[in-house]
Amino acid sequence: MTATWVRVLASYLHLLAVAVYVGGSVAMEFVLGPAQRFVPPAQAQVLGQRAADRFLVLVWGALALFPVSGMLLFFSLSDQHLVTRGELFSTGYGRTLVAMMALWAVLVVNGALITFVFRPRLARRATARGGGAAVAEQVESMQRAAQWVSRLTRVDLVLALVIVLFGASMAYGGGIL
Ligand code: HEM
Repeated sequence: MTATWVRVLASYLHLLAVAVYVGGSVAMEFVLGPAQRFVPPAQAQVLGQRAADRFLVLVWGALALFPVSGMLLFFSLSDQHLVTRGELFSTGYGRTLVAMMALWAVLVVNGALITFVFRPRLARRATARGGGAAVAEQVESMQRAAQWVSRLTRVDLVLALVIVLFGASMAYGGGIL
């Protein structure tokens, strides 16, 4: 029997990660994003970049905390025969847990794309080297990168909301799948 404090700690850390990830994404999408439209584009870009840099640190912290606290939760709360007797796919709880982990993996892949592929392209400064055509191409590449960051961020928010539904269904209804 796992000590109560371990379950409380695991649950606390898991919910803290959810609050940071989902709350932060909602604030970026529905508070900072719309507010940026009221400042000049150059300032909006700097503000957006600085905010995203800081938020990405929180995102990676939360993404790292999910599997640690989630596994701790699983082994302290749930029926462990789901794993030991290979029943992971034969119960609604097991299938929902697998789906939760799979969607978490998608969040990690999307986070890596944003952090290591698209944000570095956005942070690049347009230089006049290569003439007007090269500058236009750089600007276009930055705009494409910005569009991808925005798309992926929205997809992540929707996925996170679906995962929260999965979590609630596991905690209070035996799983939804
Ligand atoms: C590898 C990643 C993850 C693992 C292993 C995991 C595992 C778990 C487990 C075992 C539970 C307990 C269910 C129960 O009470 O029986 C749980 C609950 C929950 N999870 Fe996850 N999870 C992961 C990722 C996520 C992510 C990415 C989110 C949200 C963005 C999330 C949101 C929730 C929520 C909201 C609950 C319900 C908590 C409650 O009401 O007590 N989980 N998770």
